[in-house]
Amino acid sequence: MDKRKIIGSLFMGFAFFSVAVNAQQPLYKNATLPVEERVNDLLGRMTLEEKILQLNQYTLGRNNNENNLGEAIKQIPAGIGSLIYFDETPELRNAMQKRAMEETRLGIPLIFGYDVIHGFRTVYPISLAQACSWSTSLVEDACATAAMEARKSGVDWTFSPMIDVARDGRWGRISEGYGEDPYTNAAFCVASVNGYQGDDLKSSDRVAACLKHYVGYGASEAGMDYVYTEISNQTLWDTYLPPYEAGIKAGAQTVMSSFNDISGTPGSGNHYTMTEILKNRWKHDGFVVSDWSAVPQLIAQGAAADSKDAARVAFNAGLEMDMMGRCYDKHLETLVKEGTVSMERIDDAVRRILRVKFRLGLFENPYTPVAKPEERFLLPQSKAVAERLAEECIVLLKNEGGILPLQPEGASTTTIAVMGPLLDAEKELLGNWNGHGRAEDVYPIKKALQEEFAGRANLLFHAGCPFDGDDESQFASALEVARQADVLLLFMGERHNWSGENCVRSTIELPDVQSAFIAEMKKAGKPIVLILANGRPLALSNVEPLCDAIVEMWQPGVPGGKPVAGVLSGRVNPSGKLSVTFPRATGQIPIYYNRRKSARPESGKYQDIPSTPLYEFGYGLSYTHFAYGDLSLSKSSVSAGEKLVAQISVTNVGKCDGAETVHWFISDPACRITRPNKELKHFEKQPIKAGETKIFRFEIDPMRDLSFVDADGQHFLEPGEYYVMVGGQKVKLEIHE
Ligand code: BGC
Repeated sequence: MDKRKIIGSLFMGFAFFSVAVNAQQPLYKNATLPVEERVNDLLGRMTLEEKILQLNQYTLGRNNNENNLGEAIKQIPAGIGSLIYFDETPELRNAMQKRAMEETRLGIPLIFGYDVIHGFRTVYPISLAQACSWSTSLVEDACATAAMEARKSGVDWTFSPMIDVARDGRWGRISEGYGEDPYTNAAFCVASVNGYQGDDLKSSDRVAACLKHYVGYGASEAGMDYVYTEISNQTLWDTYLPPYEAGIKAGAQTVMSSFNDISGTPGSGNHYTMTEILKNRWKHDGFVVSDWSAVPQLIAQGAAADSKDAARVAFNAGLEMDMMGRCYDKHLETLVKEGTVSMERIDDAVRRILRVKFRLGLFENPYTPVAKPEERFLLPQSKAVAERLAEECIVLLKNEGGILPLQPEGASTTTIAVMGPLLDAEKELLGNWNGHGRAEDVYPIKKALQEEFAGRANLLFHAGCPFDGDDESQFASALEVARQADVLLLFMGERHNWSGENCVRSTIELPDVQSAFIAEMKKAGKPIVLILANGRPLALSNVEPLCDAIVEMWQPGVPGGKPVAGVLSGRVNPSGKLSVTFPRATGQIPIYYNRRKSARPESGKYQDIPSTPLYEFGYGLSYTHFAYGDLSLSKSSVSAGEKLVAQISVTNVGKCDGAETVHWFISDPACRITRPNKELKHFEKQPIKAGETKIFRFEIDPMRDLSFVDADGQHFLEPGEYYVMVGGQKVKLEIHE
């Protein structure tokens, strides 16, 4: 027996003796002790093999057959650290957890993770849409709903939020984040972390959050997935890292390493991002999980020779848990014995994972009580949050001649033709990564419109057109229907699986068959309202002139057609504004509002199209009009440490109540590092009744709001001129020495 084992068994003997004599439980089982004390006690009792098992994640689930439960869990080592859990009831979890608690020496509970991205069962709008609401409180509420449904169903940990700044609409995963702007991603990241985690992770309706995909995944070249990303350290710090820093400050427990190669060092093997920045500078004390099989994929990326090498590279870089890669369980022990992985690093990694498990209260409450679906899912208050959020996400892009809201005069006099591939496609309205969402939970568009316009209009339904392909066989009959109508509502856009992971499109225009359908319906000579559900920005230049109104409803989740029906009728006044730029053409990509300044701002433009977007970041119409007062600053010259307030009044000068979001931008005309044309630093949304005036304020802390960051992550504030900008106004501000 080697020395370590002798000491280990002496220690175990002592532990047993003290338990017997003092009738004391091991310290780590004492819930009254601080987490760190419990972690250290437990770690001190673990063998290397037990420690390494904690560093692995396999999958479990989608097998509810009683007779097969045993089969499903038999293959999995009882001492594994974590499982991705695919069931929507906790029985299988509890059975597996029982093995961990009772069949292992130390009874360390597993942590069960799942992709609860925009809802567990009560699916709400996709993240890109959520950001268009500019309502962080609604997003926080929606995430809290998802957390409750998940935790009560056996999930302790969600792989969300995704906060990858994304500027390429071809990339399918643009739908999963909060758009093109670092500040917007940071703000909604904080809201969702707060919603998922709440104040007490032990609560039976909260889950641990996971910031992903760390980092720079959104910079995928040509919009392709999993590929190389070219990101200088400067851009890393000023564009891709800020949402992560905000999420860590908000207390996010975990981070997921990304698939992309960051300028020569893949995210999952990147010591700079995972250790130097995340742990050393930001002091994150939770853990990093790899993306699915990202550790062995280091081989495909050319960053590791084989799976053993991949384990060494990823683990030493700072990646604690291997999701489905099967590299850590196979090789870490050998790597420790060979001396290329240190025991200190193993202990640090295990400590991080145990810490999160203790914080979640898993040692005290390892099992999930079995609750009936109606006690967890689709509760009226959960559906109400989803509906409210979906309403606020809707962006009115065009409303020529104020055709919306529709004002039908009575069923006998007004006829509305409702068409397009989305008509009978509830599943598509759920969007991608829809958890346990079901098509039958989605409020159908037809039903919503029938209720909304009951007694006020005669509705004619005719899908008329597929999502894609070249089947135009229904065009002629659709045109007949269109000719009988006073107005046409065309529900078009994308299927749910055209965006999300591994869902790249080479063009972001509507598919040809849909554009052709709109052109065909134009022949009826009736006003056309185009209503879009999609998972990315679209390039609409070819169809925009054919439409009198365009409504971006996004993929709303279970509220389905109800929110947009409210917008069409005027029951809901649209208040969404774009979180992402809509270009005129795919060729403009990447396009984003916060591009750095050009050497010749008036030149270098496209020859064939205007170089401006079709709809810019922050754009969105309302049924009312808002008049902005003069932008003012409480002081026009301050020192770096002095705060000031910018303020503007906004009056609803229209006839109906509405809500306005004020976006506060700053610009720095000259700096030792070039900066974007303008940078969003604050936003606020307020309801404003017709005739009412509200004051919007931005409390400026120069060091926080005007400073910039260099390629080494150092924040600095230079004295000189800055501008505060709202709408078309800008006011100069001087920072003096
Ligand atoms: C995705 C992640 C997801 C993980 C687990 C991966 O393929 O990139 O976003 O969290 O799978 O399902």
